[in-house]
Amino acid sequence: MSVTYAASTGIFTIHTDNTTYQMKVDSLGYLLHLYYGKKTEGRMDYLLTYADRGFSPNPYEVQSERLYSLDTLPQEIPCAGNGDYRSPAVIIQNPDSSVCCDFRYVTHTISSGKYALQGLPAVYANEEEAQTLEIILRDAVSDVQLHLLYGVLPKYDIITRSVRIENRGEEPVYLYKVQSACLDMVHGDFDLLTFHGRHCMERNLERTPVGHNMQAVGSRRGMSSHQFNPLVILADRDTTETAGRCWSMQFVYSGGFRAEAGKDQFGGTRLQMGLSEERFHYPVKPGQTFTAPEVIMSYSSCGLARLSQNLHACIRHHVCRGPMKTQTRPVLINSWEAAYFDFTGSTIYNLAKEAHDLGIEMVVMDDGWFGKRDTDSSGLGDWTVNEEKLGESLGSLVSRINDLGMKFGIWVEPEMISEDSHLYREHPDWAMVIPGRKPLIGRSQLVLDFARKEVVDGIFEQICNVLDQANIEYVKWDYNRCIADVYSAATDDQGTVLYDYILGLYDFLERLHQRYPHVMIEGCSGGGGRFDAGMLYYTPQIWCSDNSDAIDRLRIQYGTSFGYPISAVGSHVSICPNEQNGRITPFKTRGIVAMYGSFGYELDPARLTDAEREEIRQQVREFKEIAPLIHDGLYYRLTSPFDSPVAAWASVSEDQKEVLLNAVQLEIHGNMPVTYVRLQGLRPGAIYENIVTGDRYASDALMDTGMPIPVEYREYYSYRYRLRLCEED
Ligand code: GLA
Repeated sequence: MSVTYAASTGIFTIHTDNTTYQMKVDSLGYLLHLYYGKKTEGRMDYLLTYADRGFSPNPYEVQSERLYSLDTLPQEIPCAGNGDYRSPAVIIQNPDSSVCCDFRYVTHTISSGKYALQGLPAVYANEEEAQTLEIILRDAVSDVQLHLLYGVLPKYDIITRSVRIENRGEEPVYLYKVQSACLDMVHGDFDLLTFHGRHCMERNLERTPVGHNMQAVGSRRGMSSHQFNPLVILADRDTTETAGRCWSMQFVYSGGFRAEAGKDQFGGTRLQMGLSEERFHYPVKPGQTFTAPEVIMSYSSCGLARLSQNLHACIRHHVCRGPMKTQTRPVLINSWEAAYFDFTGSTIYNLAKEAHDLGIEMVVMDDGWFGKRDTDSSGLGDWTVNEEKLGESLGSLVSRINDLGMKFGIWVEPEMISEDSHLYREHPDWAMVIPGRKPLIGRSQLVLDFARKEVVDGIFEQICNVLDQANIEYVKWDYNRCIADVYSAATDDQGTVLYDYILGLYDFLERLHQRYPHVMIEGCSGGGGRFDAGMLYYTPQIWCSDNSDAIDRLRIQYGTSFGYPISAVGSHVSICPNEQNGRITPFKTRGIVAMYGSFGYELDPARLTDAEREEIRQQVREFKEIAPLIHDGLYYRLTSPFDSPVAAWASVSEDQKEVLLNAVQLEIHGNMPVTYVRLQGLRPGAIYENIVTGDRYASDALMDTGMPIPVEYREYYSYRYRLRLCEED
């Protein structure tokens, strides 16, 4: 049993294979956090300390017993208004407009399997793989019940958390803040690892000490965003890839979020994650329940590599869905950087033909095939095939491409509308615009009001109409601006719009998934602006960045690897000089970097040299061979591309028999010192052999002193070593 409750002590204990989580219902009925760390037996309520602390109030029933204050005790779900002045996880406004709640334990259930969340993506697992703990707390005055949900996947050291708020009272209450997970550490000096960025340069790791202030990252853009990823890690100051304690929180949600960490007056640290509070005030009417998206948590006592591997496995096997979720996906060629808007049906056909000759398996017709769409300033919302531009019907083009032995995929951006479109002329009110104000324009487009069901239905019908016309096996779902004008004609409570918008998006994606179960959907938002675990429930891969330069990608993919599996990373080889930053890199390096993802090409092979085309053939062959190791193996970051002259990373199969070591030279200087890359995760005391050269290495030496990366005076040169365990005879 992963989850147990001891009625005599009020202690809940959750065990995973390597971790333990513990909390306690105390004598006043409050749910206090006790422990989240290395697996252990025993009760940890000895960690609770009580002292008379000035200016920390006491619950009324303790009267002169001044040692008890929620301001100083570690809590599971801190609320505003009951004596804890630290940052609350829940803020509720009562019918009398007071802001206060006081949740006490009522009951709980423990069940097999993993809870699901109505209308929201969530980790899924069967009855053998997971357990659910639901704890019900109640505010006696308002009769609001708070359901705390814990999903436990022992094998992956994963615990998920979510919150449901049910109004059993007589009048509406308003939610002002709902964080899905909160961790109170009673002491410690921690760093917070966050992933910041911008369009074309997403998910840069930043590591900063947690101090006596509030550190917060988040998004107020209506999307998870390029600027901050909904993944944070708390780590001891000396935690490295291979040693030390670390805890992660990752939001299974694609809209605005907030994650915060800070030290309190007595040196405790609170880490929380949940919905963005800004522009959120959500009414919960009598009889209604509000469900918050879930947070995936993990803990590692042996460094960041293990933490990431836990998250990779959970997302790959228990968030991503569809028949392709664990298969090597078709190697694709995308028309965007090959042709942009300038193509006809023949262009796409020829791209497919050239690509097929090189071993590529699928062609994707990107933006520009519908409505009036020859530039990015018109046509969004008109999802009708521009047969005049293609010179044929979609059905005919796709069947010609299929006849070549190629699969076909298509680009869509369903959440958007151009003012220059039939849809806008017919339904101007479908765009999100605040009445009486001019809307903000982003990439010359407006956002459709997906909080309104008829808008979602209208676009869904149009998109199905396209998908029904041909054998379409892949859809790239794009989203190319942020929400700015938060207003929906569907409601009088504009504080509900950003959340309901995301429910509308998920409703659309779920319907698409159900109706076309074999269509593989790739997420995208100007590259990686919505690279989150929520989207991965519907789109098992996401175009990682609009920046396809291999050297920038090393940093982007490094940051991404902290929380997301390699198979989720859409990654393509493109031409040089690179279209985003002008850099020139060897073709081989572009391949080595792009193969660490769901692989493809973003170029026109007809414009390449014969030697380059031959290189593509080899890359595709090689990728097919090593993809299972890349996607199913354990991933190790061996150096940081932010501060090492060599970017190095490796995949090691779970049985430790196969190793793929990759290295890219980032700096070249005269008379350079050699960089030694220390491997991780090899079988101790073993010998590994390079399968190409036959060279043999002791695993302990590879992990202790490392592999020398040759110095060749060529810029951005790359190396790949395939090692195999030498079995004892
Ligand atoms: C976004 C995507 C690109 C491409 C264009 C098309 O920027 O990230 O890959 O699809 O839109 O407009």
